Amino acid sequence: MKCRRCREPAVIELRRHNAGFCRDCFLHHSREQVRKAIDDFDMLHAGDRVLVAVSGGKDSLALWDILLDLGYAADGLYLGLGIGEYSEESATYTRAFAAKRGARLVEVDIPGEYGFDIPTGARVAKRAPCSACGLSKRHLFNRAAIDGGYDVIATGHNLDDEAAVLFGNTLRWNVDYLSRQRPVLPAEAGFVKKVKPLVRLGEREMAAYCVLTGIDYIVEECPMAVGNKHLGYKEALNGIEEHSPGAKAAFYFEFLDKAAHRFDAAAVGEAEVELRTCSSCGAPTTGEVCAFCKLVARAT
Ligand code: AMP
Ligand code: FES
Ligand code: ZN
Repeated sequence: MKCRRCREPAVIELRRHNAGFCRDCFLHHSREQVRKAIDDFDMLHAGDRVLVAVSGGKDSLALWDILLDLGYAADGLYLGLGIGEYSEESATYTRAFAAKRGARLVEVDIPGEYGFDIPTGARVAKRAPCSACGLSKRHLFNRAAIDGGYDVIATGHNLDDEAAVLFGNTLRWNVDYLSRQRPVLPAEAGFVKKVKPLVRLGEREMAAYCVLTGIDYIVEECPMAVGNKHLGYKEALNGIEEHSPGAKAAFYFEFLDKAAHRFDAAAVGEAEVELRTCSSCGAPTTGEVCAFCKLVARAT
């Protein structure tokens, strides 16, 4: 197979695009997909200070690399979750990448700064690990972005992640989640804008990007996420994609285009929730104390 762009031998085939690419043209294609997502969804503007949440995995490291290549002022943010060796190893990959690119990395260590780790937090709060972890990430990404004066937070969610979440929320018609599943969440009182610039690239493409650019990343999945529902949804969608290349992208992008607006709070007859400030940390919350501060109180 030949490269669609330069006719040299291809190193990767992307059935969804009905195309193969050589190394350099694949890297170019990946950057263009990110550039297109940024433009289509108005994610970033020249001069924005971007905080990229990096886990040490392929997606977020590749995202950071591409944003730097595209000329954005992008610093990294690594959260130490205290998940044993997994966290230590992912920190090592993240630091090595930052050093290699000469990029600035902000680090927040949950055990060091808040006195608990995610496995303990999940246990005492009687929450699923990924739920305690997710709420901590959301809170601390936002906190770090406000403290550092960043305009926007970028995460490494890719097309497979977003399609799997959409699939799960559609299977159960989780209307309130469907209303929030966008590649851009605009800034609102106390919340920094959030963007997902990898939505036009799949998991396999991100792994290929790292291999072809020599980015070392942690290959293992988080040990606490093993067996979670999303992995099952991803497998199911991969089965469909196998027979029908492009189905995953159509499912997600046609949802954004034709259906997402139907789930806006107003469209489903929900009142806008009133936000107050957490009496303990000042973060926006619906109650007296935010979910993160409640978690810290229980876990320590
Ligand atoms: P996950 O929630 O593990 O699927 O990760 C989704 C995105 O969250 C990743 O692509 C990263 O952008 C970000 N992320 C996950 N874990 C961390 C971490 N420990 N520190 C900073 N960002 C993270
Ligand atoms: Fe959050 Fe594993 S990364 S529970
Ligand atoms: Zn709080």
